Amino acid sequence: MKSYIVEGGHCLKGEVSVSGSKNAALPIIAATLLNRGISTLYHVPKIHDTKIMLEILEILGCQIHINSDKIVIDSSKVDRYEIPECLMREMRSSVILAGAIIGRYKRARFSYPGGCDIGARPIDLHLEAFKKMGIEIEEESGFIHCSCDKITGAEIALDFPSVGATENIILAAVLAEGKTVIKNAAMEPEIIDLQNFLNEMGACVSGAGTKEIEIIGVSELHQVTYKVMPDRIEAGTLLCAAAITGGDVVIKEVNTDHLTPVIHKLEECGCEFQIFPEELYIKAPQRLKAVDIKTMPYPGFPTDMQSIFSSILTNAKGTSVIIENIFENRYKYTSELKRMGAKITIEGKTAVIKGVKKLSGTSVNSTDLRGGAALVIAGLVAKGETKINHIEYILRGYENLDEKLRKLGANIRKEEGE
Ligand code: EPZ
Repeated sequence: MKSYIVEGGHCLKGEVSVSGSKNAALPIIAATLLNRGISTLYHVPKIHDTKIMLEILEILGCQIHINSDKIVIDSSKVDRYEIPECLMREMRSSVILAGAIIGRYKRARFSYPGGCDIGARPIDLHLEAFKKMGIEIEEESGFIHCSCDKITGAEIALDFPSVGATENIILAAVLAEGKTVIKNAAMEPEIIDLQNFLNEMGACVSGAGTKEIEIIGVSELHQVTYKVMPDRIEAGTLLCAAAITGGDVVIKEVNTDHLTPVIHKLEECGCEFQIFPEELYIKAPQRLKAVDIKTMPYPGFPTDMQSIFSSILTNAKGTSVIIENIFENRYKYTSELKRMGAKITIEGKTAVIKGVKKLSGTSVNSTDLRGGAALVIAGLVAKGETKINHIEYILRGYENLDEKLRKLGANIRKEEGE
């Protein structure tokens, strides 16, 4: 079990650069299966989840070369269409490969991704959309078999603007016959990045970033070189680290347009900003003011920032009300924050946080990726040392988080454990 040991009380200062986006890189890596040639990707974060996705591609027959700044994927010899169950279970977001495999092979076989630490995570919207595109779905003892003679473009209205379902439909539609229109599509920036990558490869996708996306099927794609967008959630996490410590920090290599809801909430907390297109400067007050948060699909406040933002509110001045509208089980981390002295009550999808003057360092356990990050952020101001255990969760989605925080003056070290 790996842990972080954080000594609280250090105000963060200086500048730090953001890595490539996990949630843009994963669907883009999946999309390389559609291209029967070479895809060269830059700015892919070296984290557990991208490692797993690349392992699955290798099992499917891709040849992959990874060096310091780029990943070269040769999909010309892909000859399998089954996602290994063990890896599917290890990373539920590998369901995004289904659309790409079906797009290329007209069939796919994978196990139900199953729930995870933050909720049931069903894929009904994905499967309903595939059926509308002429794909036959058979479910048998936990496995899903998809097959068709051809994929036919269709008009698909999503009941909920699901990010994964939107991405899977796009991937299945790129080589389909005819036009596919997605209504009530997710508008997250990661979907714009996927659209840009696919169009670089010769696809015909438009409308990403709006509620309606159109994909005109093409017959083939060609090799591509692409740089993945910056990670807006990592950027938000670093901003919150600066905010809770009364810091004075410059975040570089970021797309500030993607951070609007987080910046606005931090301004409400009393932080001041200087904002440029690819970097921003945050100056935090000695003590933050309480604010209310409602998570919503983009461009609303991101659910992935809910736990991290809640952690900075635990020692703000006043009481904050958080409403988590996206996932049904995304408050597990709060029991660990309460062990540090936070005053939090949960009722259904609402958390009420009464700011306290001081948190106390102790041993806490990460419950999931963003919940673990929330504990690190709280440890930055807690009295004494905080030991955050099971940081494997955090390493799934953050590239060198401890290094980045140390660069800003935090006292944080990694303990390998047995
Ligand atoms: C993506 O997950 C992200 N993951 C999540 O980030 C993020 O929290 C989420 O989008 C929302 O922004 C990746 O991009 C790899 P959804 P995804 O489909 O696609 C329900 C992180 O921390 N739903 O938009 O799984 C679902 O249960 C991760 O980086 C259905 O009911 O999210 C959830 O309540 C966590 N049926 C809601 O929609 C479906 O078929 C949002 O899910 C699909 C989803």
